[in-house]
Amino acid sequence: MLLSFLLPIAFSLSASAAPSLTSRSTVHQHRIIQRLPSNEWFHPRDHPVHRLFRRDADTDSISYPEVGSPTWAAAYPSSTPDSSQLPAAWSAALNAAVQAGKIPNIPQSSSLTPNTNPVYPDGYDPTGPDVCSGTYKCQIPGNIWDAPDGFIGTGFDDGPTPASPALLDFLEANNETVTHFMIGVNIIDQPDAFNRSVELGHDIAVHTWTHPYMTTLSNEDVLAQLGWTLQLIHNSTGGRLPKFWRPPYGDTDVRVNAIAKEVLGMETILWNQDTEDWSLTNTGGTTAQAINSSMTTWLTGSKTPGLIILEHELSDQSVQAFEAAYPVMKSNGWNLQSVAQLAAGGQSAYQNAISINTGSVTPADIIFGNVSATLSATASSTLSSSSSTSRTPSSENATPSKNVASSADNSSNSAFSTWSKISVGRSAFYGALISAGVIFL
Ligand SMILES: *[C@@H]1O[C@H](CO)[C@@H](O)[C@H](O)[C@H]1NC(C)=O
Ligand SMILES: *[C@@H]1O[C@H](CO)[C@@H](O)[C@H](O)[C@H]1NC(C)=O
Ligand SMILES: *[C@@H]1O[C@H](CO)[C@@H](O)[C@H](O)[C@H]1NC(C)=O
Ligand SMILES: *[C@@H]1O[C@H](CO)[C@@H](O)[C@H](O)[C@H]1NC(C)=O
Ligand SMILES: *[C@@H]1O[C@H](CO)[C@@H](O)[C@H](O)[C@H]1NC(C)=O
Ligand SMILES: *[C@@H]1O[C@H](CO)[C@@H](O)[C@H](O)[C@H]1NC(C)=O
Ligand SMILES: [Zn+2]
Repeated sequence: MLLSFLLPIAFSLSASAAPSLTSRSTVHQHRIIQRLPSNEWFHPRDHPVHRLFRRDADTDSISYPEVGSPTWAAAYPSSTPDSSQLPAAWSAALNAAVQAGKIPNIPQSSSLTPNTNPVYPDGYDPTGPDVCSGTYKCQIPGNIWDAPDGFIGTGFDDGPTPASPALLDFLEANNETVTHFMIGVNIIDQPDAFNRSVELGHDIAVHTWTHPYMTTLSNEDVLAQLGWTLQLIHNSTGGRLPKFWRPPYGDTDVRVNAIAKEVLGMETILWNQDTEDWSLTNTGGTTAQAINSSMTTWLTGSKTPGLIILEHELSDQSVQAFEAAYPVMKSNGWNLQSVAQLAAGGQSAYQNAISINTGSVTPADIIFGNVSATLSATASSTLSSSSSTSRTPSSENATPSKNVASSADNSSNSAFSTWSKISVGRSAFYGALISAGVIFL
């Protein structure tokens, strides 16, 4: 699959085989009403996400356009969202969070050279607590990097794509539920695969609208990237609101993290091992053999902590790499569980519903008290420096670390003052060995 070589990532995220917007004119356009199964959405609460994504069944007489229809697609940005067109309520919520001191006031990073790590102005250490960039392996308290001992938190990035159906078939045949970290424009392009992911009961999470380095963006652009993806999923699943997002390239920092959390109620999931499977189809990229070798090392190694392996539903090859490793995961006694459910402490991957396709959409706490309790019990172990056989000095070397979930699982900003330990691995220069192509993480 071609990955938008040297183009802004806003376009052509999925393969050229993806149906274009105009080719969907054959879709029969009728409108369905997705009535909410329960009588109310959220109880009135302080978190702005309640107001921004509120729907009340009693008053919701809105007809929602059919997923995949032109009307549905036309309501969303066709590429990079224009943050001057943010819904007024979103801007107001962002401004209120800024005024309340909830969004750390640090500068945007900048990408001086394509495909290298964004950098911050002099005086801002990306590995220190004031910035804490995920690209530099700094772990913001409350962000999820590790799975509980003995577990593999399963998830796939960058879907839906034309490779998704094969993955969904495999998962269905093996009775596995996973998390799909989806890109907004890819949902617009692949509504069938989106629908099927939902219908199979997988967890849908946010992977931004057009897959940028988020720390390079203004507050408003960060909000637009996350907000439109959340809105699309919300309006296309009978009102579910994902609880989790994953930053493209792992590129988040305290500012981006706070916008996701304080305005949209989302927590961040990273990873502790990286297959680099996104590069399987690139000249000079990784190989199935190299992934087999890395996987073998991880899967036969320590189960403390558990694994969150970065994988993609981006190409047939990346799907096949997972399929090849799957029996080895099972034969080595790992417990597989959707990474969003693990991060939620066994509870829902949604802010307001038990699951994607069962049970009611119900009032639920936005504050993750239970996530906190469960994760601090399971994720307090340290991650041993892992030797990886990967060929690029990328993101695989999560260093000894401690997740301090309990202090961060609180919609106040107190996490930043109760910092207890910051760990930083090697700086990652994702593009160093890959001379061309947009690099997906
Ligand atoms: C997606 O599912 C909805 C609800 O079942 C349905 O109305 C719609 O036609 C489906 N769209 C596609 C593209 O399959
Ligand atoms: C999403 O649904 C809400 C109603 O719940 C509606 O006001 C809004 O316009 C919809 N957004 C889009 C982009 O379709
Ligand atoms: C599928 O997985 C679920 C959840 O792990 C389990 O309850 C169920 O028994 C499994 N079904 C089959 C047919 O293995
Ligand atoms: C690696 O490849 C060998 C030979 O095909 C296979 O038996 C093994 O299951 C693979 N392991 C993984 C983790 O993919
Ligand atoms: C948190 O856990 C408690 C006890 O297990 C339960 O009663 C409560 O409903 C949970 N809250 C949420 C938001 O899931
Ligand atoms: C959140 O943090 C504030 C300030 O530290 C504290 O007063 C409050 O009890 C916390 N809330 C929860 C739900 O932990
Ligand atoms: Zn990605």
